[in-house]
Amino acid sequence: MKVIRTIKEMQQIRRDERLKTIGFVPTMGYLHEGHTSLMKKATAENDLVVASIFVNPLQFGPSEDFETYPRDEQRDQQIAKENGVDILFLPNVQEMYPDELKVNLSIKERANVLCGATRDGHFDGVITVLTKLFNIVQPEVAYFGLKDAQQVAVVAALINDVNFPIVLSAEPTIREADGLAKSSRNVYLSTDERAEAKHLYKALLHGLNIFINEQQDNDTLIQSVRKYLSKYTSGVIDYVDFLSYPELKPVTNKSERMILAIAVKYKQARLIDNVIFNRSGDIIETIKF
Ligand code: PAF
Repeated sequence: MKVIRTIKEMQQIRRDERLKTIGFVPTMGYLHEGHTSLMKKATAENDLVVASIFVNPLQFGPSEDFETYPRDEQRDQQIAKENGVDILFLPNVQEMYPDELKVNLSIKERANVLCGATRDGHFDGVITVLTKLFNIVQPEVAYFGLKDAQQVAVVAALINDVNFPIVLSAEPTIREADGLAKSSRNVYLSTDERAEAKHLYKALLHGLNIFINEQQDNDTLIQSVRKYLSKYTSGVIDYVDFLSYPELKPVTNKSERMILAIAVKYKQARLIDNVIFNRSGDIIETIKF
């Protein structure tokens, strides 16, 4: 595995390897099975796998955890190497943002709900860094986890709107044995919080069960999930929402795919999770855009 820290070197590799298909896994590091499953998929489907690790300051709000976001470069390099990554792109902030940006990228739809409703500018930061990374790496396929389903919807819009010649492969959420979605931020949970965090996924399945078995309106379904979360977790509910996917608009009887999504704030970690399903209630775990 080659470790590359400059954009120039990465671009040179892309020129040298122009006949190869590149599968790209962009990350912010502190790698876990959610990331390694993407790396393995990329390895199986492409000639060359590029992963990036860059904690992108642009997507953190002033009161968010940019400074304290977990980082462990040595460990990440080892994990990337063991999981089929050929090239690990590790730029620093100066390399990615040497000057103030003169171009503003801003997402118009899909960002004013769920996490975007309270994380002002977050998805603008995400599409800005990904536009840069897509142009630098020039992959055929980019791999993302559906745990960050709103991010997937936003990136699908970016790729489509500006015609990046990239397939977005959205992959299953990887879970702990008790159902908790794997996340770099799980390390912030106290022992008690970790014990009850399994109820986030259970709350989603409770909601899905209501969707399948009871003819409830959207608000009643949302309220039932809220009730479940309040009963079984001490975290503060940030949102529970039920929307069409990937449009992230209110569900109607024409919506083919829907997302039930939640965010719960614990003392030092804000956890998100979701289930995406069709009208029959079948869970959708992978989507190609
Ligand atoms: O999901 C993440 O880790 C980040 O939002 C991403 C896609 C690497 C952009 O910084």
